[in-house]
Order: sequence, then structure tokens, then C-alpha cells
Amino acid sequence: MRKYKRAIVTGASTGIGECFARQLASEGVNLILVARRIELLQKLQLELRQKFNVEVDILPVDLTADDAPEKLIQAATLYGKTVDLLINNAGNGAYRPFLKTPLNEHLQTIELNLVSLTRLCHLFGNHMLTHGQPSSIINVSSVASYQPIPKFAVYCGSKCFVRVFSEIFHYEMKKTNVSVTCLCPGGTATDFLTTNNQKMKTSLSVLQSAEEVAATGLKAAKRGKRVVVPGLLNKFQAFLPRLLPNFINLQIAKIGMELAIDEKN
Ligand SMILES: NC(=O)c1ccc[n+]([C@@H]2O[C@H](COP(=O)([O-])OP(=O)(O)OC[C@H]3O[C@@H](n4cnc5c(N)ncnc54)[C@H](OP(=O)(O)O)[C@@H]3O)[C@@H](O)[C@H]2O)c1
Repeated sequence: MRKYKRAIVTGASTGIGECFARQLASEGVNLILVARRIELLQKLQLELRQKFNVEVDILPVDLTADDAPEKLIQAATLYGKTVDLLINNAGNGAYRPFLKTPLNEHLQTIELNLVSLTRLCHLFGNHMLTHGQPSSIINVSSVASYQPIPKFAVYCGSKCFVRVFSEIFHYEMKKTNVSVTCLCPGGTATDFLTTNNQKMKTSLSVLQSAEEVAATGLKAAKRGKRVVVPGLLNKFQAFLPRLLPNFINLQIAKIGMELAIDEKN
């Protein structure tokens, strides 16, 4: 099992990213935390430094900005420091029919979920190969990468890219010291639903906890796994669509989502 010394986590201000940060800090891993909301990052920085006595740097950046990935690699490698774990966790996507969402919002999702993730994999992948210490990259996709979901066209498309890209990248890196793991969570109890135009219809929750999802992702990365889907129900949700034609998958997903979730507006 791999042990990490210094990790960079995107989308670390809340949800699954925050849980990655907490779990890594508890293992004594130094951190670089990335998100836009500086006050949340500062609060977490203070808490993790005090509790676990680890170094925590924060980088408040919008990952959709053109210069963001270069800013991150420069800041992370200042004074010859190295990074041996990259977690590409930040992601979003509105739950709404494609034409009812402004084009700019879709383009921001593509920039965040796919373009910035690809650029960070390239920059930090090369950095990891150069420093030569055993290293890992975790790319957060979704079970939505296996299942086409109506009203989630750009989100599902982007997460499908993340999974396929990560699986091929994992294969290409097999003979190196760098492993690539794709984490595919299902419904997880975070702010994601509300910030992405969703409203739960039922209090009967089948959501996983963000702690559980992050722990599964870390364990899989330490073992060098290619893909991991946390939770039995999600494993089933990721497997079933592979047996059925997509016109049926679309219908099943539509009914499932309508039972559980409303559009906020
Ligand atoms: N929750 C679920 O049901 C679920 C299911 C499957 C997959 N996922 C995936 O899990 C990942 C984490 O989501 P989550 O559930 O933890 O949701 P979340 O609590 O909403 O977290 C999203 C994180 O991304 C950051 N972020 C958003 N836009 C950003 C930008 N432009 N630049 C920098 N940071 C940005 C947010 O911080 P700021 O707002 O402070 O920037 C936040 O820290 C996402 O990739 C999501 O697609 C979630």
C-alpha cells in the first residue's frame, strides 16, 4: 500500500474533497487545498494544522480560469517541493434539460470537470514522473459515467470522459511509479445536489456519506486500482446499464431520478 507525503486536493472546501483532506491529514500527509471559497479553506487549514500538526497550504482559485492549472503546479512545486498525490475532485453540472441551461453554464462545467482535470493530470503526471517517488492520481467521476441520465447531458458526458480518460491513463502508466485511479461515487450526501439545481423529493435517503466515499477512493488509490465504485447499490447501478441498450437505460434513469429528485428551478 502506498503512503503519501504531500497531496493536492481540488474542491476541498466542502463535501467529498473536504473528507479527502481530513482523512489525509489524519494520516500525517501535508496538504494543498484548492477551491474558490477562501474562508472555508482557511477554516479547514486552521483546524487540520492544529489537530494533526501537518502543513496545510491553501490556493483559492477558480479552476475554470485559463491560468489556474499553471498557478497550481507553480505554487505546489515552489522551493523544490514535490507532490505525490493529486486528487481531481472539484466538479459540477446542472440538473436541467440541455436547452434550458445557459450555454455558458455548460461550458463552465466542461472547463471544470474535463479541461482543468486533463491539464492537471498532464502537469502533475509529468512532475511525478520526474521526481520518481511512488505517486497517485485520483480522478473523481460518477456512476453517471455508466448511465445516461436525462436532464444531465453535459454532466454525464463530462463524467464519462473522466472515467474513460482515467482508465486509459491508468493503463499507459502501468509500468511507471505513478498510478491512476478513477473514483465513481453514486448519490452522496454533500452540497452537490443543492448547488446543482436538485431538490430531494424524499427523506428516505439512499445517499452515501462523503467520508465513506473518500475513504474508498483513498484505499483504492493506495492499492493502485484502476476504477472503484463505492457501495453495493452503486456497483449495481454501474453494472446494469452495461447489460441493457441505452434507450432502456435512459428510461430507467428518468424514472429513478423523477422518483427521488426535483429540479429546483
Ligand atoms: N454528491 C454526489 O452525489 C456525487 C455523486 C457522484 C459524483 N460526485 C462528484 O464528486 C465531486 C465532489 O462533489 P461533492 O459531492 O463533494 O460536491 P460539493 O460539496 O458541491 O463540492 C464541490 C467542490 O468543488 C469546488 N468547486 C466547484 N467549482 C469550482 C471551481 N470553478 N473552481 C474550484 N473549485 C470549484 C467547490 O468549492 P468552491 O465552491 O469553494 O469553489 C467544492 O469544494 C464532484 O466531481 C462531483 O461531480 C458527487
